[in-house]
Amino acid sequence: MRVAIIGSGYVGLVTGSCFCEFGFNVTSIDNDINKIERLKKGEIPIYEPGLEALVQQGLNSGRLSFTTEISEAVSNADIVMIAVGTPSRRGDGHADLTYVFEAAKQVAQHLKDYTVVVTKSTVPVGTSRKVAQIIQETRLDLTIGKDFDVASNPEFLREGSAITDFMRPDRVVIGAESENARKILQELYRPLYLRETPIVFTNIETAELIKYASNGFLAMKIAFINQIADICEQAGADVQDVAKAVGLDGRIGRKFLHAGPGYGGSCFPKDTLALAQTARQLGTPMSLIEAVVEANDQRKLSMAERIIKAVKGKKIAILGITFKPNTDDLRDAPSLVIIPELQKAGFSINVYDPLYNANQGQAEAKPYFSNIEWSENPYHAAENADAVIILTEWNEFRALDLKRLNQQMNKTKENLPHLIDFRNIYNEADVTPHGFQYSSIGRPSLKSVA
Ligand code: UGA
Repeated sequence: MRVAIIGSGYVGLVTGSCFCEFGFNVTSIDNDINKIERLKKGEIPIYEPGLEALVQQGLNSGRLSFTTEISEAVSNADIVMIAVGTPSRRGDGHADLTYVFEAAKQVAQHLKDYTVVVTKSTVPVGTSRKVAQIIQETRLDLTIGKDFDVASNPEFLREGSAITDFMRPDRVVIGAESENARKILQELYRPLYLRETPIVFTNIETAELIKYASNGFLAMKIAFINQIADICEQAGADVQDVAKAVGLDGRIGRKFLHAGPGYGGSCFPKDTLALAQTARQLGTPMSLIEAVVEANDQRKLSMAERIIKAVKGKKIAILGITFKPNTDDLRDAPSLVIIPELQKAGFSINVYDPLYNANQGQAEAKPYFSNIEWSENPYHAAENADAVIILTEWNEFRALDLKRLNQQMNKTKENLPHLIDFRNIYNEADVTPHGFQYSSIGRPSLKSVA
């Protein structure tokens, strides 16, 4: 079976290399010639654990190829997947579908024999049907059901663990409405079927909505536990114990109940906005999701406020700027809100992030920040700082040499340096003996417990 994937970004690359690993022939297409030239050499433009090896394996096997030429790849394909970006449109938060619709037009021009055209990008309800309509309008000679079908097959990959998520998913969702399309897509996912992965077949609109409902719900869980953390801080309760006990209820589940500085990334912020927008458009406003968006924006600001209130001094060291560990993604990361707020309040900022400690990384991050000092390691970042803030829970921050860290910092007897842990990876009892004032999220201070 031959698969053509339009868009060699994050989703396209992971999906393509994993299907190739299953034994299918995959052509990954992108109109960025530089990207394609690099990919042909096995160079990956993004950081995703395991992806480079998988792409290299695919290239070596001869089953994975990269091209800027859509024509041949689409004409020869049994399945064409559209995996282009759907950024938030400026102003209204709606997903910008320009790239999806453009891809649909181009695909239409090159369709030959029966092909299933799949929307893999996260697209609002109704988009896949619009894709079918565009194909029909572009190629009046084609008949839906006979020459092509359109299906929706959303992805549930997490950055940083995308390969495992692909290979061992909780479920596969396929929105398809013809027997032919269902059969072909079932065949594509057969290797997972053998591992007893549930495959949920639905109509097209349902599959599209499942994606938004999943991300909306997960975002809501995070916003919920963050507000519970605020209550814990006032009430002297411990949010980690609350989350654990609440999550032991099988109806709730333990995952995605880690309180922190607010969710970021390329998905939750964009998808919650798009879901709210779709709901409003359909005349069924979703006040819950609108509140989640608002709470999360507020969360990031309130993190900055609590630093500004606590730290008397001039310099702050930030450990971790990506929206979560194991990714180089800065999109909608809490750091993008918190750092400028601290600068506005007069603090100078040192940053250390494992993926942005080299010159090239810093150049890539430059457009996101201004006037920050880049550091080579956490201790370098802590030099003369009044506070160290852990913003992202990279593994290398979990076992810092706290004594050494403290020695670098600005301090007086009356004013000990702060370690502000927004990911709860330390305990107060382990940190304070090293001469820090420690604070974290939603956990009672030892002083208030005593
Ligand atoms: C998310 C979903 O988890 C994937 O299932 C989905 O496929 C993907 O979006 C997408 O739509 O493509 P991702 O954005 O990579 O994946 O990252 P997550 O691991 O979900 O984390 C998102 C944000 O929530 C991060 O900022 C993280 O720090 C935060 N988070 C997560 C918390 O604050 N607490 C938690 O308990 C979990």
